[in-house]
Amino acid sequence: MEHLNEFLDEVHRDHGDILERFMLVMGFTDENDREIVFRILLKNLVNHQEAEREVFDALRRYPDLGVDRHLVTEVLDNADREEAHFESVLERMDQLSVTGDTWIEQLLLLQKDVKAHFEQEEREIFPEIREIARVARKSDEVLKRYRLTRDVLETAA
Ligand SMILES: [Fe+2]
Repeated sequence: MEHLNEFLDEVHRDHGDILERFMLVMGFTDENDREIVFRILLKNLVNHQEAEREVFDALRRYPDLGVDRHLVTEVLDNADREEAHFESVLERMDQLSVTGDTWIEQLLLLQKDVKAHFEQEEREIFPEIREIARVARKSDEVLKRYRLTRDVLETAA
């Protein structure tokens, strides 16, 4: 179950990369360049959210993993609300010139919201998944112990 920790490390890295890209967008002063980089950033964000939702949803579908289903549901509901909020910010941004101050203000607001969303995910759901990974490692130990004991007993018989 070590891959669960690897998954979390990767999600954490992606959260950081996406937040950094917001700053990158502002570095482009040309209107077309800024527009292109911003669209790429949005695509990264949407793809990330979808991939993550897929995994969180799977965690909910397998109660044997011992994940707190209510917590996952809460996180997913929150994500729905935030996505609706992101959409409304994006609609507002669409009406503005990408090189204007108001657009940049909205971009910074969006970055702040996305950051808060990432932090909430990492704070609330990551520990749950780390716990699953920890327990699963223990179950590996249980299996090893079982096999060792079984084999020793078989040799002794
Ligand atoms: Fe995320």
